[in-house]
Amino acid sequence: MSGENSLIRNANPDDLDDLVNLENASFSTDKLSRRSFRHWISAEHCALLIAEINEVTAGYILIIYHPGTRLGRIYSLAVDQKHRGRGLAKQLIQAGEQAAQDDGKLYLRLEVSVDNTAAIKLYEALGYQKFGIYRDYYQDHKDALRFQKRIRHYSDTLQHRSVHWLKQTTHFTCGPAALMMAMHGLNRAYQPSQEEELNIWREATTIFMTSGHGGCHPVGLALAAKRRHFKVEVWINQTGTLFIDGVRNEDKKQIVDLVDNGFKRQAEEQSIPVHYANITQNELINAFKTGALPLIMISTYLMDRKKVPHWVVMSGFDDDCLYMHDSDPDEHRQSELDCQFIPIAREDFDRMSCFGKNRLRTAVIIR
Ligand SMILES: CC(C)(COP(=O)(O)OP(=O)(O)OC[C@H]1O[C@@H](n2cnc3c(N)ncnc32)[C@H](O)[C@@H]1OP(=O)(O)O)[C@@H](O)C(=O)NCCC(=O)NCCS
Repeated sequence: MSGENSLIRNANPDDLDDLVNLENASFSTDKLSRRSFRHWISAEHCALLIAEINEVTAGYILIIYHPGTRLGRIYSLAVDQKHRGRGLAKQLIQAGEQAAQDDGKLYLRLEVSVDNTAAIKLYEALGYQKFGIYRDYYQDHKDALRFQKRIRHYSDTLQHRSVHWLKQTTHFTCGPAALMMAMHGLNRAYQPSQEEELNIWREATTIFMTSGHGGCHPVGLALAAKRRHFKVEVWINQTGTLFIDGVRNEDKKQIVDLVDNGFKRQAEEQSIPVHYANITQNELINAFKTGALPLIMISTYLMDRKKVPHWVVMSGFDDDCLYMHDSDPDEHRQSELDCQFIPIAREDFDRMSCFGKNRLRTAVIIR
């Protein structure tokens, strides 16, 4: 690039026209709109970088972070046709990896169309590893390959299990979706379905929770798993009625209390171990290592600032992170990929895996 000065910098509102032009020239479908670019220029939780050559915009990369986790996603990348083949995309990705690392991210993931040879070669050359395919991903119905790279390296201690991801079909059935993932992960003969999801919810629900439908009670989920011939163990760090504080109405409180007592009585009758203690990360990991799949209740606060109790299933661990499958794609995790093996840093995990002002920590270990 003799006589050429290239520079990578953060995007600002003056780049809008150039970004839109670059986008339109580079992609025929799934284009980012002017409005999206305007949003991402000022948004937190992302890196939007511009490559300039002799002060002219020549390319960009957009990396979106998944709040509360160690995951970032290369959402888009393009280099102006005139400037391709000179290493600009490589520089953009490397600068993006650095920005993501500086913002505490451990992994970058991305999707790329199966026929985009240039981009696939580029990602492979930079150490991205293929880990799946999405059928019919783009507006033009082409399939997408999924790539991942660990951008910060430690000793390679990852242990994970192939857990088939499921999307919950209602906003209150995270518990059943997590349980179905675990049961299918442990026994491929077990077949999840929407009917199963609703049946499990009916078996395990607290009936009321805050002002809406009840979510699932840990002991209710354990009973549902036992009914389906799995071995279960429950951990709850408090003995009182769960989720009762958020319910205002006295009649509803009484019902939540009745359901809680009923579940605990049935667990006793069926000899389901319920440990009234804090489960530690090491206990979760030991259970996982010995073949179990733990369901863990997290608060979504670090992810979306909503304080909602939410069930996820543990799908792996290493020295830095515990990994979760989450059945609920949200505004930050638009793709299935972002909902699988979500890396939660160990130092964030304890904060994330407790809920409410009395710091409820609960898990259901399924074998
Ligand atoms: C993909 C794209 C960003 C590459 O930009 P670029 O600046 O030309 O890429 P670079 O010069 O940095 O190339 C780096 C490496 O990528 C690979 N590569 C890039 N273009 C390639 C091509 N046309 N064929 C094969 N390999 C290619 C090579 O491994 C190359 O390394 P090398 O030059 O040492 O062989 C660009 O072609 C583009 O904007 N395409 C349209 C938009 C798009 O597809 N974006 C990706 C969406 S996931």
